[in-house]
Amino acid sequence: MRRLQKLGGQTKAANGDEVDALPRSTVSTVLRGDKLPRSEFVSAFVTACLVYGGQPPEQVAVATESWLARWRALYAAGGREGAEGETPQGDPVAEAPKAGSVPRHLPLDVRFLAGRGAELKAAEELVRRQPGGSVLLLSGPAGVGKSAFAIRWAHHLIEDFPDGQLYVDLRGAQGPLDSEHALGVLLGGLGVQEGDCPADPRRRVERYRSLIANRRMLIVLDNACDTEQVRPLLATGEHCRTVVTSRNRMSGLVAREAAQRLVLDVLSAEAACTVLRAVIDEEYLVGARAELEELAELCGYLPLVLRLAAVKFSDRPGQGFKNFVRTMRDDSQLLSLALDGDHDSSIRAELEFSYRRLGLDARRYFRKIGLVDDDGFTLETGAALAGIPLAEADRLTGQLESEHLVAEIGRHEFSMHRVLQAFARAEERKAGEAQARTLTVACSG
Ligand SMILES: Nc1ncnc2c1ncn2[C@@H]1O[C@H](COP(=O)(O)OP(=O)(O)OP(=O)(O)O)[C@@H](O)[C@H]1O
Ligand SMILES: [Mg+2]
Repeated sequence: MRRLQKLGGQTKAANGDEVDALPRSTVSTVLRGDKLPRSEFVSAFVTACLVYGGQPPEQVAVATESWLARWRALYAAGGREGAEGETPQGDPVAEAPKAGSVPRHLPLDVRFLAGRGAELKAAEELVRRQPGGSVLLLSGPAGVGKSAFAIRWAHHLIEDFPDGQLYVDLRGAQGPLDSEHALGVLLGGLGVQEGDCPADPRRRVERYRSLIANRRMLIVLDNACDTEQVRPLLATGEHCRTVVTSRNRMSGLVAREAAQRLVLDVLSAEAACTVLRAVIDEEYLVGARAELEELAELCGYLPLVLRLAAVKFSDRPGQGFKNFVRTMRDDSQLLSLALDGDHDSSIRAELEFSYRRLGLDARRYFRKIGLVDDDGFTLETGAALAGIPLAEADRLTGQLESEHLVAEIGRHEFSMHRVLQAFARAEERKAGEAQARTLTVACSG
C-alpha cells in the first residue's frame, strides 16, 4: 500500500475527493501499522492513488478488485483487524467472506441482446442516480427478455460489486419458490451451511440482512411472482443493490420500497428480425425479406417466440423458409413452439402459467377481449364484449394490466400483443367447446 501511495503522489491521494471520508490520521495509522485495514479503506485508497496516478478508469476498477481479492485472502488467513479509530462493530471485516468464496452466482452472460441499448442505458442511469440499497424492478410480458436483460446488465456492472453477486430463480411462473427456501439459497451463497440456517423465518431474514449489511453485493431475484415473495429477500445494506424481474408490475414494491421500475416492451420490428437472423443461416433468407418481417410480426416481436421459431426452422431447414413462415400463420403451430418438443416449455404452457393465476372473471374477460382486432380496445368495447358493466371492465382491465396481459396504448385505450391474442382466442374456443359439451350432457340427461 505504501508503494501505491507513492504512485498516486503521497498525501494528495489521501486528501483527494475519493478518500475525503478518510482522515489523514487514519491513512497514516493504517500505513504505519501492521494490521489489516477495513476493506472500504483499501477500496477508497487504491482508487484514489490510481486515479491520481493517471490510470484509466477500467484499469482502476480491475486493480481495485485485485487489491480487494488480496485483502480477502489476508482476512481469511486470520489477519482481521480494524485501523485505529474504527470500531469493529458493523465493519465488513466482521462478516467478510472466506478467501476464494466470494459468491459469483450470475448465470452465463447473455452476450447477444438485440434492440435493448436504450433500456440498458436507462437502467444504468437509474441505478447510478439511486442511493445504495435500492431496488431495480424489471417487469414486462412473458418471454419479453426480462431475465436476459437483468443478467446482461448485472454482468456489465460486475465490477461495482466486488463482494459478490447472488442469484436466485424464484420460478414465479412455474410454481414459485417460497421466500423461506429462497432465503436458504441466498444464505447458502453467503457460506451458511444448510444445517446452520435458522429455522425461524424471521431469524433467517435477520441473518441474511446482517450478513450482507456491509458488503458491496448485487442480489438478482429473477422471475419473481409477487411482492410478498420478494420483500424478505431485498438487500437492505447501504452498499447493496437488488434487481428483481417479474411478469407482475409489482406496484406495491414501487410504492413501499421505492423500487425503480423499468418496463420492457416487445422488440421493434428491426430488432426482432435481427434476433431471427442471429439463428437462421443467411443462405435460407435470400430473397425472403418480406417473409422474415412477417415471421417477426407473427411472433409478436417477443424474443422467446422469435428464438423458438428460428430454432424450429433451423432444425429442419429443408422445408424452405417461405413454407415455414406459411405454417406459422396457423396460431396453434405458433403456440406449440417449444424447445426439443418439450410441451411443458411451449409458448402455450408459458402463457398458461400467467392465465391460471387470474380469477375466473378475469380469465373470461381476457378471452373476450382477445376477440377484438389488432388495433386495440377501449373499456366500452371490453364491457360490451364481455357483457359486464363499465366499472367491472375497468377493474378487470387493471388486473390484466398488472400482469402485463394487456398494455395501455393511449388514454383509456388498450391492446394485447399478437401471441397473447392467439392464446386468448384458443382459450375462448376451448371454453366454448366445454360449454357446448355441458349443454349436450344436460339436454340428454
Ligand atoms: N433482446 C434480445 N435479443 C435476443 N435474444 C433475447 C433478447 N431478449 C431475450 N432474449 C432471449 O429470449 C429468451 C427469453 O428471454 P427471457 O427468459 O429473458 O424472458 P423473460 O421475460 O425473463 O421470460 P419470463 O416471463 O418467462 O420470465 C431467452 O432465450 C433469451 O436469451
Ligand atoms: Mg424470466
